[in-house]
Amino acid sequence: MNKTKIAILLSGRGLNFVAIARKVMDGTIKGDIALVASNKADARGLKKAKPLGFETLFIPHIGKTREAFDEEIVGELRRRSVGLVCLAGFMRILSPVFIRAFPMRIMNIHPALLPAFRGTNAWRQALDAGVKVSGATVHFVTEDLDAGPIILQKSVPVRDGDTVETLSARILRVERQIYPEAVRLFCGGKLEVRERRVYVRK
Ligand code: GAR
Repeated sequence: MNKTKIAILLSGRGLNFVAIARKVMDGTIKGDIALVASNKADARGLKKAKPLGFETLFIPHIGKTREAFDEEIVGELRRRSVGLVCLAGFMRILSPVFIRAFPMRIMNIHPALLPAFRGTNAWRQALDAGVKVSGATVHFVTEDLDAGPIILQKSVPVRDGDTVETLSARILRVERQIYPEAVRLFCGGKLEVRERRVYVRK
């Protein structure tokens, strides 16, 4: 089977990217990282990608419409025959131009148990709601924000006295488990989407 070409889009630290990259490099994920791209020139994730030998690309978004920016990214991804796009802390909402170019081929990691706490600062939302359990979700990206078919989820407890910092650190630990696992399943042809449900083939 041909290896899936993976693109990572990030805006920040890139810890989820590194977790995926490790599993690509040790052969657990049958894929190749063809590109690590960011809308932030100084994204720490880009700096981590270079010494690992991955191609990196800075695509500025300032002064462009959302559609023009997305068309530019889509062009770069198509040029590299990308088969899976992983959003890893990419702090941009994708337009239909992008999403329709890669149907059920864009994944995102969200730091809550969707459909709870969509949007920004999910950790703060969870603390404000007083929930006892939160977690992380890997899902396919559709035109409804944080509402695409769910691939994997893992829960963590919310403890008395938690802050955004302590809760986000606990959630990050499970993010770094389930995101590489979802990518592994995708690249192994194990994921099938029917209606809203993602089936994992044995
Ligand atoms: C992660 O916690 C991810 O769940 C979150 O951004 C962080 C990126 O960290 N994403 C969102 O909130 C998306 N709405 P990283 O750059 O170290 O992987």
